[in-house]
Amino acid sequence: MTTLLKVENLKKAFNTRGITTRVLDDVTFSVETGEIFLITGRSGTGKSTLLGLLAGLDQASSGTIDFQGREITGMSLSELADLRAATIGMIFQSFNLIPSWTALENVEAVLMHRGIGREERRTRSAQLLGELGLKDRLHNLPAELSVGQQQRVAIARTLVNEPALILADEPTGDVDPETAADIMGLLLPRIKSGKTTMIVASHGLFDPGFADRVACLKDGRLEMQPGIITKPENRQ
Ligand SMILES: Nc1ncnc2c1ncn2[C@@H]1O[C@H](COP(=O)(O)OP(=O)(O)O)[C@@H](O)[C@H]1O
Ligand SMILES: [Mg+2]
Repeated sequence: MTTLLKVENLKKAFNTRGITTRVLDDVTFSVETGEIFLITGRSGTGKSTLLGLLAGLDQASSGTIDFQGREITGMSLSELADLRAATIGMIFQSFNLIPSWTALENVEAVLMHRGIGREERRTRSAQLLGELGLKDRLHNLPAELSVGQQQRVAIARTLVNEPALILADEPTGDVDPETAADIMGLLLPRIKSGKTTMIVASHGLFDPGFADRVACLKDGRLEMQPGIITKPENRQ
């Protein structure tokens, strides 16, 4: 296995109206290619903040993030945006689907910047949505879909781009446990077969059995949880 991501001594503090909030104090970890890495921790401990730094949506106060052998902490926000578009997929609890676009259009749009022709964009997107159980929902708007179906559209949108790294922030947070299990059942085989790496942040609703490794964010530090490991079938 090769190391995809190496994070060292990462710190993040927010300064708002003269008040400094230190969120990440000293976060160090690495993630191997093909791994599903779960970050747990109570609400407000900084999981979304950490994912935002990994995605290049925000810049760290100090420390280093090496992604695919490139140091990203020194990059400009526009360089980070390019890197993100090419290699990183994000899944949020709130889905972030475009409300006036159909399921198919939401997925297709991701492929536009890659110079793929319209026919192929449609075919690939429709096929993936079909595999995720949405064959009959391609032309519905997000508001016409259930929460679980909306999340599957969001997952299709992420997977269609074949990202090297998926960052999932509370991906099953808004659905019932059965729907959450269904969603993960659809997502995980595709991640494993595509050799994609996924980092999931969840305050506890995500089944740790899906993960290869589990870490807990507490008091600004990330601690590995050696006890909580993994169904054998989830291992490479
Ligand atoms: N843009 C911001 N400005 C100031 N404080 C922030 C900002 N974003 C997050 N925080 C603070 O950082 C802490 C961690 O938030 P967050 O990363 O959302 O935690 P989690 O995802 O674990 O629930 C919270 O105390 C939150 O108020
Ligand atoms: Mg969060």
